[in-house]
Amino acid sequence: MSVSFPARILDWYDRAARVLPWRIAPGSDIVPDPYRIWLAEVMLQQTTVAAVAGYFQRFTARWPTVADLAAADDADVMAAWAGLGYYARARNLLACARAVVRDHGGRFPDGEAALRALPGIGDYTAASVAAIAFGRAAVVVDANIERVIARHRLIETPLPMAKREIRAALAPIVPADRPGDFAQALMDLGATICTPRAPACAACPLMADCRARGRADVERLPVKPPKKAKAHRHGLAHWIERDARVWLVRRPGKGMLGGMRALPGGDWTDTRPIESAVAEVDHGFTHFDLTLKLVRRDALPENGDAAAEGEWWPISDLDAAGLPTLYRKLIDKMLERDA
Ligand code: ADE
Repeated sequence: MSVSFPARILDWYDRAARVLPWRIAPGSDIVPDPYRIWLAEVMLQQTTVAAVAGYFQRFTARWPTVADLAAADDADVMAAWAGLGYYARARNLLACARAVVRDHGGRFPDGEAALRALPGIGDYTAASVAAIAFGRAAVVVDANIERVIARHRLIETPLPMAKREIRAALAPIVPADRPGDFAQALMDLGATICTPRAPACAACPLMADCRARGRADVERLPVKPPKKAKAHRHGLAHWIERDARVWLVRRPGKGMLGGMRALPGGDWTDTRPIESAVAEVDHGFTHFDLTLKLVRRDALPENGDAAAEGEWWPISDLDAAGLPTLYRKLIDKMLERDA
Protein backbone atom coordinates (compact mmCIF):
# COMPACT_ATOMS: atom_id res chain seq x y z
CA MET A 1 0.00 0.00 0.00
CA SER A 2 1.29 3.44 -0.76
CA VAL A 3 2.21 5.67 2.16
CA SER A 4 -0.63 8.07 3.00
CA PHE A 5 -0.62 11.74 2.09
CA PRO A 6 -0.29 12.90 5.74
CA ALA A 7 2.51 10.43 6.44
CA ARG A 8 4.51 11.60 3.43
CA ILE A 9 4.11 15.30 4.14
CA LEU A 10 4.89 14.87 7.85
CA ASP A 11 7.95 12.76 7.07
CA TRP A 12 9.16 15.51 4.74
CA TYR A 13 8.44 18.14 7.41
CA ASP A 14 10.45 16.22 10.00
CA ARG A 15 13.45 16.60 7.70
CA ALA A 16 12.83 19.94 6.00
CA ALA A 17 10.77 22.16 8.34
CA ARG A 18 11.87 25.77 8.18
CA VAL A 19 13.25 27.19 11.40
CA LEU A 20 11.00 30.16 12.25
CA PRO A 21 10.98 32.32 15.38
CA TRP A 22 7.41 31.39 16.38
CA ARG A 23 7.67 27.74 15.47
CA ILE A 24 8.12 24.71 17.72
CA ALA A 25 10.38 22.36 15.75
CA PRO A 26 8.87 18.96 14.91
CA GLY A 27 9.68 16.40 17.60
CA SER A 28 10.32 19.04 20.27
CA ASP A 29 8.50 18.62 23.57
CA ILE A 30 8.21 22.36 24.16
CA VAL A 31 4.59 23.33 24.76
CA PRO A 32 3.50 26.01 22.27
CA ASP A 33 2.56 29.41 23.70
CA PRO A 34 -0.82 30.33 22.15
CA TYR A 35 0.00 34.05 22.43
CA ARG A 36 3.10 33.69 20.24
CA ILE A 37 1.29 31.47 17.74
CA TRP A 38 -1.64 33.88 17.50
CA LEU A 39 0.64 36.91 17.14
CA ALA A 40 2.62 35.25 14.35
CA GLU A 41 -0.47 34.11 12.47
CA VAL A 42 -2.02 37.59 12.59
CA MET A 43 1.24 39.15 11.40
CA LEU A 44 1.60 36.58 8.61
CA GLN A 45 -1.73 37.37 7.00
CA GLN A 46 -0.93 39.03 3.68
CA THR A 47 2.72 39.40 4.67
CA THR A 48 5.76 37.22 4.01
CA VAL A 49 7.64 35.14 6.54
CA ALA A 50 10.77 37.21 5.84
CA ALA A 51 8.99 40.49 6.53
CA VAL A 52 7.40 39.23 9.75
CA ALA A 53 10.41 37.73 11.56
CA GLY A 54 11.87 41.02 12.86
CA TYR A 55 8.47 42.38 13.90
CA PHE A 56 7.68 39.17 15.74
CA GLN A 57 10.91 39.35 17.68
CA ARG A 58 10.46 43.01 18.59
CA PHE A 59 6.85 42.50 19.70
CA THR A 60 7.58 39.46 21.84
CA ALA A 61 10.62 41.12 23.44
CA ARG A 62 8.61 44.20 24.34
CA TRP A 63 5.31 42.48 25.16
CA PRO A 64 6.18 38.91 26.22
CA THR A 65 2.63 37.92 27.21
CA VAL A 66 -0.88 38.70 26.04
CA ALA A 67 -1.42 40.63 29.29
CA ASP A 68 1.60 42.84 28.49
CA LEU A 69 0.21 43.56 25.04
CA ALA A 70 -3.26 44.21 26.42
CA ALA A 71 -1.79 46.82 28.79
CA ALA A 72 0.24 48.57 26.07
CA ASP A 73 -0.52 52.06 24.81
CA ASP A 74 -2.37 52.01 21.51
CA ALA A 75 0.09 54.47 20.03
CA ASP A 76 3.10 52.29 20.91
CA VAL A 77 1.56 49.23 19.31
CA MET A 78 0.54 51.13 16.18
CA ALA A 79 4.06 52.53 15.86
CA ALA A 80 5.64 49.10 16.36
CA TRP A 81 3.35 47.72 13.66
CA ALA A 82 4.34 50.45 11.16
CA GLY A 83 5.58 48.89 7.95
CA LEU A 84 3.55 45.68 8.23
CA GLY A 85 0.57 47.30 6.52
CA TYR A 86 -3.14 46.62 6.91
CA TYR A 87 -3.33 48.72 10.04
CA ALA A 88 -6.84 47.59 10.94
CA ARG A 89 -5.13 44.33 11.90
CA ALA A 90 -3.02 46.12 14.51
CA ARG A 91 -6.10 47.72 16.03
CA ASN A 92 -7.80 44.32 16.11
CA LEU A 93 -4.66 42.79 17.58
CA LEU A 94 -4.95 45.07 20.59
CA ALA A 95 -8.71 44.58 20.85
CA CYS A 96 -8.16 40.82 20.82
CA ALA A 97 -5.43 40.89 23.48
CA ARG A 98 -7.70 42.98 25.69
CA ALA A 99 -10.66 40.64 25.14
CA VAL A 100 -8.51 37.62 26.06
CA VAL A 101 -7.52 39.33 29.31
CA ARG A 102 -10.98 40.70 30.10
CA ASP A 103 -13.16 37.76 29.04
CA HIS A 104 -10.85 34.74 29.28
CA GLY A 105 -8.63 35.44 32.27
CA GLY A 106 -5.60 36.05 30.05
CA ARG A 107 -5.70 32.62 28.39
CA PHE A 108 -6.63 32.10 24.77
CA PRO A 109 -9.64 29.80 24.42
CA ASP A 110 -8.62 26.48 22.86
CA GLY A 111 -11.45 25.83 20.40
CA GLU A 112 -11.99 27.17 16.90
CA ALA A 113 -15.43 28.65 17.58
CA ALA A 114 -14.39 30.53 20.74
CA LEU A 115 -11.27 31.81 18.97
CA ARG A 116 -13.34 33.03 16.03
CA ALA A 117 -15.51 35.04 18.41
CA LEU A 118 -12.48 37.21 19.33
CA PRO A 119 -11.80 40.52 17.50
CA GLY A 120 -9.80 40.15 14.31
CA ILE A 121 -9.79 36.35 14.34
CA GLY A 122 -11.33 34.93 11.17
CA ASP A 123 -11.60 31.38 9.87
CA TYR A 124 -7.93 31.14 9.00
CA THR A 125 -6.50 32.43 12.29
CA ALA A 126 -8.99 30.45 14.39
CA ALA A 127 -8.08 27.23 12.58
CA SER A 128 -4.32 27.82 12.61
CA VAL A 129 -4.19 28.74 16.31
CA ALA A 130 -6.47 25.81 17.21
CA ALA A 131 -4.24 23.41 15.27
CA ILE A 132 -0.76 24.78 16.02
CA ALA A 133 -1.20 26.00 19.60
CA PHE A 134 -3.81 23.53 20.87
CA GLY A 135 -3.41 20.43 18.72
CA ARG A 136 -7.00 20.58 17.49
CA ALA A 137 -7.74 18.80 14.19
CA ALA A 138 -8.80 22.04 12.48
CA VAL A 139 -8.75 22.45 8.72
CA VAL A 140 -6.21 25.20 8.01
CA VAL A 141 -6.28 26.78 4.57
CA ASP A 142 -4.01 29.64 3.52
CA ALA A 143 -2.81 30.62 0.05
CA ASN A 144 0.10 28.16 0.12
CA ILE A 145 -2.13 25.29 1.17
CA GLU A 146 -4.70 26.24 -1.48
CA ARG A 147 -2.04 25.97 -4.13
CA VAL A 148 -0.70 22.61 -2.94
CA ILE A 149 -4.15 21.02 -2.75
CA ALA A 150 -5.52 22.58 -5.95
CA ARG A 151 -2.56 21.07 -7.80
CA HIS A 152 -2.50 17.71 -6.03
CA ARG A 153 -6.22 17.22 -6.70
CA LEU A 154 -6.27 19.10 -10.02
CA ILE A 155 -9.05 21.38 -8.82
CA GLU A 156 -9.98 23.58 -11.78
CA THR A 157 -12.62 25.66 -10.01
CA PRO A 158 -11.45 29.28 -9.72
CA LEU A 159 -10.73 30.79 -6.31
CA PRO A 160 -12.38 31.77 -4.09
CA MET A 161 -15.03 29.20 -5.04
CA ALA A 162 -12.44 26.41 -4.96
CA LYS A 163 -12.02 26.89 -1.21
CA ARG A 164 -14.94 24.56 -0.49
CA GLU A 165 -13.41 21.73 -2.51
CA ILE A 166 -10.02 22.33 -0.93
CA ARG A 167 -11.46 22.15 2.57
CA ALA A 168 -13.42 19.05 1.64
CA ALA A 169 -10.24 17.40 0.37
CA LEU A 170 -8.34 18.23 3.56
CA ALA A 171 -10.97 17.61 6.24
CA PRO A 172 -10.82 13.79 6.18
CA ILE A 173 -7.01 13.61 6.19
CA VAL A 174 -5.99 16.04 8.96
CA PRO A 175 -4.01 13.77 11.30
CA ALA A 176 -5.43 13.94 14.83
CA ASP A 177 -2.00 13.50 16.44
CA ARG A 178 -0.17 16.28 14.55
CA PRO A 179 -2.64 18.77 13.06
CA GLY A 180 -0.37 21.78 13.64
CA ASP A 181 2.64 20.16 12.01
CA PHE A 182 0.42 18.98 9.15
CA ALA A 183 -0.76 22.53 8.44
CA GLN A 184 2.73 23.98 8.72
CA ALA A 185 4.16 21.21 6.55
CA LEU A 186 1.73 22.13 3.77
CA MET A 187 2.60 25.83 4.22
CA ASP A 188 6.32 25.10 3.99
CA LEU A 189 5.84 22.87 0.97
CA GLY A 190 3.89 25.64 -0.75
CA ALA A 191 6.53 28.22 0.15
CA THR A 192 9.60 26.20 -0.85
CA ILE A 193 8.66 23.48 -3.38
CA CYS A 194 5.12 23.89 -4.69
CA THR A 195 5.83 27.54 -5.47
CA PRO A 196 3.61 29.73 -7.66
CA ARG A 197 6.26 29.82 -10.42
CA ALA A 198 8.56 26.97 -11.45
CA PRO A 199 7.62 24.45 -8.73
CA ALA A 200 10.36 21.95 -7.85
CA CYS A 201 8.18 18.88 -8.50
CA ALA A 202 11.11 16.46 -8.54
CA ALA A 203 11.77 17.23 -4.84
CA CYS A 204 8.13 16.99 -3.76
CA PRO A 205 7.04 14.26 -1.33
CA LEU A 206 3.55 14.37 -2.87
CA MET A 207 4.68 13.91 -6.47
CA ALA A 208 3.70 10.26 -6.88
CA ASP A 209 -0.03 10.95 -6.92
CA CYS A 210 -0.11 14.67 -7.74
CA ARG A 211 -2.56 15.11 -10.57
CA ALA A 212 -0.96 18.33 -11.81
CA ARG A 213 2.59 16.89 -11.88
CA GLY A 214 4.23 17.04 -15.27
CA ARG A 215 1.62 19.35 -16.73
CA ALA A 216 3.11 22.27 -18.58
CA ASP A 217 0.39 24.48 -17.18
CA VAL A 218 0.86 23.59 -13.49
CA GLU A 219 1.48 27.27 -12.75
CA ARG A 220 -2.08 28.02 -13.82
CA LEU A 221 -3.31 26.27 -10.67
CA PRO A 222 -5.01 27.33 -8.54
CA VAL A 223 -7.16 29.18 -11.08
CA LYS A 224 -7.43 32.82 -10.04
CA PRO A 225 -10.62 34.85 -10.29
CA PRO A 226 -10.75 37.44 -13.07
CA LYS A 227 -9.05 40.67 -11.98
CA LYS A 228 -11.28 43.65 -11.29
CA ALA A 229 -9.99 47.00 -12.49
CA LYS A 230 -8.84 48.94 -9.43
CA ALA A 231 -9.77 52.53 -8.85
CA HIS A 232 -6.92 55.04 -8.92
CA ARG A 233 -6.95 57.88 -6.42
CA HIS A 234 -4.75 60.89 -5.84
CA GLY A 235 -3.87 62.37 -2.52
CA LEU A 236 -1.84 65.13 -1.00
CA ALA A 237 0.49 65.24 1.98
CA HIS A 238 1.87 68.46 3.48
CA TRP A 239 5.44 68.90 4.64
CA ILE A 240 5.41 71.72 7.19
CA GLU A 241 8.80 72.27 8.74
CA ARG A 242 9.90 74.46 11.63
CA ASP A 243 13.19 74.41 13.59
CA ALA A 244 14.24 70.99 12.24
CA ARG A 245 10.84 69.54 13.14
CA VAL A 246 7.94 68.45 10.97
CA TRP A 247 4.24 68.60 11.79
CA LEU A 248 2.77 65.10 12.19
CA VAL A 249 -0.86 64.28 12.86
CA ARG A 250 -2.61 61.08 13.87
CA ARG A 251 -5.10 59.68 11.38
CA PRO A 252 -8.64 59.06 12.62
CA GLY A 253 -9.16 55.68 14.32
CA LYS A 254 -11.37 54.30 11.56
CA GLY A 255 -10.54 54.15 7.86
CA MET A 256 -7.33 53.78 5.88
CA LEU A 257 -4.20 53.68 8.08
CA GLY A 258 -6.51 54.45 11.01
CA GLY A 259 -4.78 55.41 14.22
CA MET A 260 -1.39 55.78 12.54
CA ARG A 261 0.83 58.86 12.63
CA ALA A 262 0.92 60.61 9.28
CA LEU A 263 1.71 63.79 7.45
CA PRO A 264 -1.27 66.11 7.34
CA GLY A 265 -3.15 66.17 4.04
CA GLY A 266 -6.48 65.63 2.35
CA ASP A 267 -8.58 62.51 2.38
CA TRP A 268 -7.35 61.04 -0.95
CA THR A 269 -10.68 61.41 -2.69
CA ASP A 270 -9.30 63.26 -5.71
CA THR A 271 -9.58 61.28 -8.89
CA ARG A 272 -7.50 63.76 -10.86
CA PRO A 273 -3.77 64.19 -10.52
CA ILE A 274 -2.41 67.01 -8.36
CA GLU A 275 0.29 69.22 -9.88
CA SER A 276 3.57 70.55 -8.55
CA ALA A 277 4.79 68.18 -5.87
CA VAL A 278 8.32 67.82 -4.47
CA ALA A 279 7.95 64.04 -4.33
CA GLU A 280 5.39 61.37 -5.13
CA VAL A 281 4.84 57.67 -4.51
CA ASP A 282 2.48 55.06 -5.85
CA HIS A 283 1.04 52.63 -3.36
CA GLY A 284 -1.31 49.71 -3.90
CA PHE A 285 -4.04 49.23 -1.32
CA THR A 286 -6.40 46.28 -1.52
CA HIS A 287 -9.19 48.16 -3.24
CA PHE A 288 -7.46 51.08 -4.92
CA ASP A 289 -4.12 52.40 -6.07
CA LEU A 290 -3.00 55.68 -4.62
CA THR A 291 -0.64 58.30 -5.98
CA LEU A 292 0.37 60.44 -3.03
CA LYS A 293 2.17 63.73 -3.62
CA LEU A 294 4.14 65.76 -1.17
CA VAL A 295 3.94 69.56 -1.18
CA ARG A 296 5.80 71.95 1.11
CA ARG A 297 3.82 74.50 3.02
CA ASP A 298 5.03 77.32 5.22
CA ALA A 299 2.31 77.22 7.83
CA LEU A 300 -0.53 75.17 9.20
CA PRO A 301 -3.68 75.92 7.21
CA GLU A 302 -6.53 77.45 9.20
CA ASN A 303 -8.88 74.59 8.51
CA GLY A 304 -8.72 71.04 7.22
CA ASP A 305 -6.99 68.21 9.01
CA ALA A 306 -3.60 69.91 8.92
CA ALA A 307 -5.02 72.05 11.68
CA ALA A 308 -6.01 68.97 13.66
CA GLU A 309 -4.18 67.83 16.73
CA GLY A 310 -0.59 66.99 16.02
CA GLU A 311 2.96 67.46 17.14
CA TRP A 312 6.25 68.90 15.95
CA TRP A 313 8.41 65.84 15.42
CA PRO A 314 12.23 66.03 15.17
CA ILE A 315 13.16 65.26 11.56
CA SER A 316 16.32 63.49 12.74
CA ASP A 317 14.16 61.01 14.71
CA LEU A 318 11.53 60.13 12.11
CA ASP A 319 12.26 56.40 12.57
CA ALA A 320 10.67 56.54 16.01
CA ALA A 321 7.45 58.08 14.67
CA GLY A 322 6.18 54.75 13.33
CA LEU A 323 4.98 56.21 10.06
CA PRO A 324 3.31 53.83 7.59
CA THR A 325 5.57 52.76 4.73
CA LEU A 326 3.70 54.97 2.31
CA TYR A 327 4.75 58.14 4.15
CA ARG A 328 8.27 56.89 4.79
CA LYS A 329 8.77 56.29 1.08
CA LEU A 330 7.43 59.74 0.26
CA ILE A 331 9.65 61.49 2.80
CA ASP A 332 12.73 59.48 1.82
CA LYS A 333 12.20 60.53 -1.79
CA MET A 334 11.99 64.17 -0.84
CA LEU A 335 15.07 63.98 1.37
CA GLU A 336 16.99 62.18 -1.38
CA ARG A 337 16.01 64.92 -3.78
CA ASP A 338 17.16 67.58 -1.34
CA ALA A 339 20.44 65.80 -0.59
N1 ADE B 1 2.41 31.31 7.08
C1 ADE B 1 1.41 31.56 7.94
N2 ADE B 1 1.55 30.85 9.07
C2 ADE B 1 2.68 30.14 8.93
C3 ADE B 1 3.36 29.21 9.73
N3 ADE B 1 2.88 28.88 10.93
N4 ADE B 1 4.48 28.66 9.25
C4 ADE B 1 4.92 28.99 8.03
N5 ADE B 1 4.34 29.85 7.22
C5 ADE B 1 3.22 30.42 7.65
